[in-house]
Amino acid sequence: EFHLHPKKVHFASDGAFGKFDRQQLQRGFQVYKEVCSACHSLSHVAFRDLAQLGYSEAEVKAIAAGFSVPGTDPNTGEATMRPGTPTDYFPKPFANDIAARAANNNAVPPDLSLMTKARHNGPAYVYSLLTGFTEQPAELLKEFPEAKTPSGLHYNPYFANLNLAMAPPLTADGQVEYGDGTKPTVDQMAKDVSAFLIWTAEPKLEKRKQTGWAVLGFLLFATILGYMSYRNIWAGKK
Ligand code: HEM
Repeated sequence: EFHLHPKKVHFASDGAFGKFDRQQLQRGFQVYKEVCSACHSLSHVAFRDLAQLGYSEAEVKAIAAGFSVPGTDPNTGEATMRPGTPTDYFPKPFANDIAARAANNNAVPPDLSLMTKARHNGPAYVYSLLTGFTEQPAELLKEFPEAKTPSGLHYNPYFANLNLAMAPPLTADGQVEYGDGTKPTVDQMAKDVSAFLIWTAEPKLEKRKQTGWAVLGFLLFATILGYMSYRNIWAGKK
């Protein structure tokens, strides 16, 4: 009873007519880049995919170059890091799971590419998790004293285990600075990054919905045509 359902939250991409709000996706990407990418990878997304959010070729190049990706030294063939290019995928922030665990109280931060699909009611879940860190309720401790949040973990009623190894990543209004005049409140940043993660998990969402309408239109047309043919063929027969 202490584990809560995600909060109700609306996204522009919701519903049968849903479309991405590209301004919002750009803001959400900014939150990912400036906050989440310190710990979470985005392995299914390539920098060039960001063109779909409305970034120009030059902007994509600059964003990619701002990340270090694993490569090989052309002279020695040894593994080394190099600046990203548009065809590279977002790099992992830790060299391996051992390093990831060492930095995160023995938990590995999961890849976020498909997170909004992996969890039930994913977009609302991510939003709720980010805005849901709180004190443990007194009733919980009274009923289950052994459930006290261990040191190094953080209480969050939207997380299935109630205690998770991620510290609240969004803690202060203005943590990122938006270029489009939107006020970067914690709530807004959480919404924007959740919207961005809807896109990473299903970049073809708009196409899918448009295709659905075209299919319905065709089926309606075919049904009417079929009915009219039926009437025509059987006209005059008793
Ligand atoms: C887990 C989102 C920033 C470390 C998670 C989960 C989500 C998430 C959705 C998965 C919860 C689940 O398994 O259901 C985000 C977002 C961030 C962000 C959107 C940026 C706004 C960070 C940062 C760190 C971090 C900066 C490290 C300092 C972790 C760890 C876990 C985790 C260690 C695993 C927790 C556990 O299983 O106990 N995060 N995160 N996250 N995150 Fe983050």
